[in-house]
Amino acid sequence: MRGRKMADPNSRIENMRDMAPAERLAAVVRAAGLSDAEAHTLGGVDTLPVARADGMIENVVGKFELPLGIATNFTVNGKDYLIPMAVEEPSVVAAASYMARIARGCGGFLTSSDDPVMRAQIQVLRPRDPHGAKHRLLAARDELIERANARDTVLIGLGGGCRDIEVHLFEDTPAGAMVVLHLLVDVRDAMGANTVNTMAETLAPRVAEIARGEVRLRILSNLADLRLVRARVEIPPEALATGSLRGEDVVQGMVEACALAIVDPYRAATHNKGIMNGIDPVVVATGNDWRAIEAGAHAYAARNGRYTSLTRWEQSAAGALVGTLEMPMALGLVGGATKTHPAAQAAIRLLRVGSARELAEVTAAVGLAQNMAALRALATEGIQKGHMTLHARNIAILAGAEGDEIDRVAKAIAAAGEVGVERAAAELAALRGKP
Ligand code: MEV
Repeated sequence: MRGRKMADPNSRIENMRDMAPAERLAAVVRAAGLSDAEAHTLGGVDTLPVARADGMIENVVGKFELPLGIATNFTVNGKDYLIPMAVEEPSVVAAASYMARIARGCGGFLTSSDDPVMRAQIQVLRPRDPHGAKHRLLAARDELIERANARDTVLIGLGGGCRDIEVHLFEDTPAGAMVVLHLLVDVRDAMGANTVNTMAETLAPRVAEIARGEVRLRILSNLADLRLVRARVEIPPEALATGSLRGEDVVQGMVEACALAIVDPYRAATHNKGIMNGIDPVVVATGNDWRAIEAGAHAYAARNGRYTSLTRWEQSAAGALVGTLEMPMALGLVGGATKTHPAAQAAIRLLRVGSARELAEVTAAVGLAQNMAALRALATEGIQKGHMTLHARNIAILAGAEGDEIDRVAKAIAAAGEVGVERAAAELAALRGKP
């Protein structure tokens, strides 16, 4: 199916909220030109056979399902994307879609990314002369790169491979002095863990020889700081006005809200969690390793010794709100669950990304949109109002509401300001004409 030519989708699907899940699926499939088989997979009915799951991890007893929502309205670098998001938290998909709608009227999101270069670390213990070891390893750079690239001819054929080395020296650790060799490897469209781990293990004996020490760890670093992705959005104040609040006040509120996340790790943790609310669901839906993305994000946020915000929100000279995000994004399109999980394959087809870099950039745009939604809500009416309206749907379901009862009960309990199962059960009984 990969070669099938399709027109670019229009990510603006009107009234998605008011549709039933099957209608939404049909609208998304139409917009993205997916096949019947892909539509069926995206719908999630028996998508992952237990036999397939059994091949993915150990001791499988079944499957664990999450809702899959589609965020609409995204324009990234002038191209429209429908975004698959696998997530359990209400309001995440709606918030991303809403901010993307505001952004698309102002040119959408603009992104860029580095080459997909991952680091692998080879730890050398007990070097008698740590500084000498460092210099000998640096002197052997060309030989080490050549050896690293000798095995993986497929990666070299694709234009990837080991590009460079770094040597880090720790003179005083609980285990004495150690020298750590980094292999910097362009992994192309892979997440890269297997590729770089194999290279590190292959190279380790030679590294030990050159450094005249003993090798212990040979493993990638999830602080993928050479594989950064950047997203940017610029919104004129009038597009941000809400209720009785002027756009200028909203801009000021969002800039001030971000300022706390920049200086205070307590706020930065929550602020960045809001960014990951957008990123993780895309990472999960595409079968990627969300723990790796989380680890990289938070390590990068603390890279200067103090944990800080991954985004910046500023006001331009013209008064516009300017939001930027920069973070590591080690996502793959080949290998692992991206290939073995049918739903991940369908999600990637829906996204219509041609490379892991494009996937990383779109994912970053979703993270920025999510952060924009959180700050806009926090700087204005607070998040509970919108959150509770959506949370009310969950409560209505818990109380036994089905079909269109869910919305009606949710609206009633939200309007009453009593979002609890007891009130929901009473509203449901009244709706069904029972005392
Ligand atoms: C909730 O899941 C995420 C927020 O707390 C993020 C934030 O505070 O910026 C709303």
